[in-house]
Amino acid sequence: MTIKVENLKVNFKTLEEFTQFKEYGLQELSMLEELEYSLVEDAAASPFYGIYFGDKLVARMCLYVKDGHLDGAIQEYDKHLEIWKLEVLPQYQFKGYGRMLVDYAKHFNLPIVTRPRVKSQDFWVRMGFQSLSEDSSRLVWIPDSISTKKIS
Ligand SMILES: CC(C)(COP(=O)(O)OP(=O)(O)OC[C@H]1O[C@@H](n2cnc3c(N)ncnc32)[C@H](O)[C@@H]1OP(=O)(O)O)[C@@H](O)C(=O)NCCC(=O)NCCS
Repeated sequence: MTIKVENLKVNFKTLEEFTQFKEYGLQELSMLEELEYSLVEDAAASPFYGIYFGDKLVARMCLYVKDGHLDGAIQEYDKHLEIWKLEVLPQYQFKGYGRMLVDYAKHFNLPIVTRPRVKSQDFWVRMGFQSLSEDSSRLVWIPDSISTKKIS
C-alpha cells in the first residue's frame, strides 16, 4: 500500500471524513455550505492535505501560503507557509504520519509558521521548529536554502 500526502478535494466524502477530527469547526462547515449551495465546484482543490491508510483518511493539515514578510530575522522571504489543524487520528499516531505532513510542507523551502496546541510543543521541537519571538506563542521553521519549488 502506498502511503502518500495528497491534496484533499472539496467534496461531500472529504467533508464527511473531516468530522472524525477533533478540530472540526467553522472552516469545514462553511466549506460544506459552499458545496451545498454550489458556490464551489465539486472536487475543487482545498487548502487541506491528508494521508489515506487504505480508504480511510487518517491524518490531515491545512496549509496556506501567506504573502508578506514575517517579523524577525527572516526578511529574505516575501512569503511563508502556515500550518493549521495538523492532526493524526488517535489510533494512527506515532507512526510517522505527522512527520510526513510536516516534511511535505518543508519541501517547498519556505518558512513555516504554526501555533501549536498545548500538548504538541515537543513534537514541533522535534520537527525543527522554534519560537518565532520571545513573546510569541507561534513557532517557525526556517529552511536552509531558497528554492524555486512552487505551491499552487
Ligand atoms: C502531534 C501529532 C500531529 C503528531 O503526529 P504523529 O503522527 O503522532 O507523529 P509522528 O509519528 O510523525 O512523530 C514524529 C516524531 O515526533 C514524536 N512525537 C509525536 N507526538 C509527540 C508528542 N505529542 N510529544 C512529543 N513527541 C512526539 C515521535 O515520537 C517521533 O519522534 P522520533 O522522530 O524520535 O521517532 C499527533 O499526535 C496529533 O494529531 N495530536 C493531536 C492533535 C495535535 O496536537 N495537533 C497539533 C496541531 S498544533
